[in-house]
Amino acid sequence: MHTSTEHDLIRAAKDGYARQYGAAPEVVRFAPGRVNLLGEHTDYNGGFVLPMPLGLGVAIALGRGGAPGELRITSGEFEGEALRRASETATGAWSDYVLGGLKALVEDELAQTGLMVFVDGNLPVGAGLSSSAAVEVCTIRAAAELFGRNVDPVDLAVMARKVENDFVGMPCGIMDQFSISVGAPGSALFLDTRTLEHHPAPLPDGYNFLVIHSGVSHQLTDSGYATRVAECKAACAALGVEMLSDLTVDDLARIDAIAEPLNRRARHIVTDNRLTREGLAALEAGDAEAFGRLMIESHATERDNYEITVPETDAQVEAAVALGALGARQTGGGFGGAIVVLVAEAEVERFCNEFQDRFPATRVLAGI
Ligand code: GLA
Repeated sequence: MHTSTEHDLIRAAKDGYARQYGAAPEVVRFAPGRVNLLGEHTDYNGGFVLPMPLGLGVAIALGRGGAPGELRITSGEFEGEALRRASETATGAWSDYVLGGLKALVEDELAQTGLMVFVDGNLPVGAGLSSSAAVEVCTIRAAAELFGRNVDPVDLAVMARKVENDFVGMPCGIMDQFSISVGAPGSALFLDTRTLEHHPAPLPDGYNFLVIHSGVSHQLTDSGYATRVAECKAACAALGVEMLSDLTVDDLARIDAIAEPLNRRARHIVTDNRLTREGLAALEAGDAEAFGRLMIESHATERDNYEITVPETDAQVEAAVALGALGARQTGGGFGGAIVVLVAEAEVERFCNEFQDRFPATRVLAGI
């Protein structure tokens, strides 16, 4: 399990910056990754989500210097320094998330100054834990501090999502940026993605949510995610609604009558919306067993209706439950990545040993 904390990452980013650029950074900021507990792919359908921030994350060190409009961007995780210009568009490189975040907040200032950026982090890429959103939010946080801008966390989330949609070109919803910017460690965040109404939800005492990398990495800019977004639009047209969250499980007969696979895509959205609402109630009641059952149901609809799971995560979720977990499901954008498992605290060690014996390619990343 990773043990680096926010404090360790901030230090690593500071040291990395000093090594790379031969000076101390002017500001260093942290942003966590997130794990989603319930409500998958509901966010671009105006639905409900229930994510929580992780201890894992990214830290970004920033300082002014160099020619106006020139950005030097280095990462402790990837080789080499990226030299970008503030006038550039996205190229598909990891540094796009930094460049996009900077342009979103301080495009005018970048014409006056150069910037040096060092990024460090411990969020595995392609694990469904929002490493890209963490970089976007962290970049904007650091730039806001450096240039003396006061940005409200909700506005920051909206801005970071725009970076992903309009600059990077990934048609995601707002869950990741919102939970990273607004969420607080130690609790889940219930969010209505249509109204942006949100409030914290308590985690059950005596239980841990384990975040386990399945060993299969995804690439959300591959076509799978965008295909689902397009299918939801087509399902809306077939059903005569603006957003799939205009419908509920009471509309399932109507939903089932439209063409395959659009009917199952819509069935997933209304089902996961129901499960997320029920999940909030279970957390508020401190009912871990009920929450676990909802996680299992959510994995089934991800697998059967939305078809975003892979054989490895299906097998791991099934095995986790057989090994005594209260619930388990694939989390995040899908097509692999991480699973999240709810286990009684007293069982965590035994569970992890038995699970990893059975699936040696998996990695327990966090326990909350
Ligand atoms: C990715 C996207 C989010 C959300 C999830 C799936 O993480 O960035 O907006 O759609 O997938 O729930």
